[in-house]
Amino acid sequence: MIQLSELPVSYGKIHLPAKVALVVTQKPESGYNLITIEWFMRTSLTPPMFAISIGKTRYSHECLEANRYFNLVFPSLKMKPLLTLCGSNSGRDMDKFAVGKVEYIAGKLHKLPVLKDAVACFECEIATQIRSGDHTIYIGEVHYSWENPEEKLFYFQEGIETKPL
Ligand SMILES: Cc1cc2nc3c(=O)[nH]c(=O)nc-3n(C[C@H](O)[C@H](O)[C@H](O)COP(=O)(O)O)c2cc1C
Repeated sequence: MIQLSELPVSYGKIHLPAKVALVVTQKPESGYNLITIEWFMRTSLTPPMFAISIGKTRYSHECLEANRYFNLVFPSLKMKPLLTLCGSNSGRDMDKFAVGKVEYIAGKLHKLPVLKDAVACFECEIATQIRSGDHTIYIGEVHYSWENPEEKLFYFQEGIETKPL
């Protein structure tokens, strides 16, 4: 029978299994940053749009306030170590592209990196944003999309376990 539960506990429990993604942003000065995210969704077909929810304390938040575009990267199975790296370190302290030895080509919108190992990558320009508690939801219009049919999508099953779709 369904019953009332402790809110923080049930809120934390309902998220798995989950897709995860990487967001590439441009740093305020120069260079690029990567963040692992789980809170994202498609929000429009025409034009195609994605929403991403970024914590206000994240360096990526600073980057998105400075440069109004991002690449949403759907990771392949081989990118698991990079997801861990980018989800547990801040771009304030580390160049994640250098440490993760990330291979990429320049995108078409603002030359933001398109990761070579990704399953798909969407080049987005921020159209609007919404405050959501301690996060900001950035809604980006997709201008270019890339895909790699040879790779399989990574997603979180239990904790950090993965299975191909
Ligand atoms: C699986 C996973 C999912 C995450 N999802 C989000 C998310 O949706 N939004 C967010 O702001 N941070 C999320 N994080 C936390 C950030 O990835 C983490 O704080 C990161 O170090 C921030 O990097 P930055 O300071 O370079 O932006 C997630 C972390 C992991 C491991």
